Amino acid sequence: MNTSEMYNYKVVRQFAIMTIVWGIVGMLVGVFIASQLVWPVLNFDIAWLTFGRLRPLHTNAVVFAFGGSALFATSYYVVQRTCHVRLAFDRLASFTFWGWNLVIVLAAITLPMGLTSTKEYAELEWPIDILITVVWVAYAVVFFGTIMRRRMKHIYVANWFFGAFILTVAILHIFNNLAIPVGLFKSYSVYAGVQDAMVQWWYGHNAVGFFLTAGFLGIMYYFIPKQANRPVYSYRLSVVHFWALIFTYIWAGPHHLHYTALPDWAQSLGMVFSLVLLAPSWGGMINGIMTLSGAWHKLRTDPILKFLVVSVSFYGMSTFEGPMMAIKTVNALSHYTDWTIGHVHSGALGWVGMVTIGALYYLIPRLYNSEIYSVKLIETHFWMATLGIVLYITSMWISGIMQGLMWRAVNEDGTLIYSFIETVDAMHPYYFIRLLGGLIYLAGMLVMAYNIARTIINKEPAVAPVLAPAH
Ligand code: HEM
Ligand code: HEM
Repeated sequence: MNTSEMYNYKVVRQFAIMTIVWGIVGMLVGVFIASQLVWPVLNFDIAWLTFGRLRPLHTNAVVFAFGGSALFATSYYVVQRTCHVRLAFDRLASFTFWGWNLVIVLAAITLPMGLTSTKEYAELEWPIDILITVVWVAYAVVFFGTIMRRRMKHIYVANWFFGAFILTVAILHIFNNLAIPVGLFKSYSVYAGVQDAMVQWWYGHNAVGFFLTAGFLGIMYYFIPKQANRPVYSYRLSVVHFWALIFTYIWAGPHHLHYTALPDWAQSLGMVFSLVLLAPSWGGMINGIMTLSGAWHKLRTDPILKFLVVSVSFYGMSTFEGPMMAIKTVNALSHYTDWTIGHVHSGALGWVGMVTIGALYYLIPRLYNSEIYSVKLIETHFWMATLGIVLYITSMWISGIMQGLMWRAVNEDGTLIYSFIETVDAMHPYYFIRLLGGLIYLAGMLVMAYNIARTIINKEPAVAPVLAPAH
């Protein structure tokens, strides 16, 4: 029996392809809303095309459709390869694919219609929330069922991260979305006032911590050692930073609520835990980067490894920036400004985007028993993605800090120096540069789609054995 018969690669292929499709769709919407911020006329006075409705469509598409599909694809692949066993429950795994994509389609319909619970990153209304819960429980059954059937005693560390991500996201999703329906498309949160805000940002921050971080660390721990052909730098460090990370993240949510009605002590608690979070985050970064010890020369010729390693560098950068922004006095400047948007996208395009892209370039030829169509195009994609990110985040840093400083600038008599519209006018050129960065990043994704399509179509038996031995 060859590997593609022994393992369930079908569902991995499906999710891998949809990662690229949803990535392009979500980023296209990102580019469109970035254009609206440059030329507001692009709202066209059509309600469902307005920035306010398309922004949540962008965030849902990139985080849950693109990021989510990447996590399903990689976790299903990694758990099989590292447990030396076929995925448990083929039919249930297939259900998670169709169910998750149905959620995405429903989101793409309801969000532009303006149907929203108004909770950021949890905007979908209650019937869709229930569907998400069902799909997620099925995902947990498939993943943990596979772990239970494993042929080896040891559970590889990547699976710890995937497992923590699956369990925690289930809890976050259920508790943050508890609501009383008043119609098919409308519900009210069971929490009110500051409790509602607190639960929302406990969810929101841990969506970052577990969806956009723990799951992607699972990807890092499998694909970097594989692509570099080196063992993980320190297995002990991976275990220590795993427990430290998941314990610390849960407390840091209140840094999203500085200077609000949330009690001061809770804000300070969030700040302190955010500062502590630097240590376990950097533990992961160091472990990822140092895995290249003895293989640094490969970076010169291997663009897949470049994607993976640069992504970890962005992870290190955004997890340094985050704790700094969590300090109350720094947050007094950064909050509500484009600095936050710059921070988000250094994590999103740099860390999440690049580690996903690297993993896909590794995965697809193996899934289709083929060889990558063009390594040169991967190299081109790498430089396009890097240039796009640099333009995006530097423009947002400049725009954000300028915006914050202009808002707080006062005359001697205490009156404001700048009117609001003057600050908007000052941001305009930077919004254009961000759009340019986004366009280049998106164009890189199209290069990838072409390269992958050719890889799949060409599907000639690989000359060199591409199927690396199992973990
Ligand atoms: C071509 C690439 C992209 C472009 C042009 C883009 C553009 C944008 C724009 C214009 C906004 C709204 C900013 C504002 O309200 O001022 C935004 C928000 C956001 N984007 Fe993107 N984006 C891209 C890719 C991504 C990716 C890949 C992710 C995640 C994996 C992501 C996650 C987010 C999030 C979470 C927000 C909300 C941030 C907040 O509320 O603070 N974006 N994006
Ligand atoms: C040690 C790690 C991190 C800490 C302590 C941290 C801290 C922060 C802080 C203080 C804010 C601004 C809150 C505000 O003023 O409203 C923020 C916003 C945000 N961060 Fe991070 N960050 C970290 C890592 C990351 C990473 C790796 C990502 C993405 C992959 C990310 C995604 C986001 C998003 C999406 C927001 C915007 C939330 C919103 O207002 O909609 N963060 N983070």
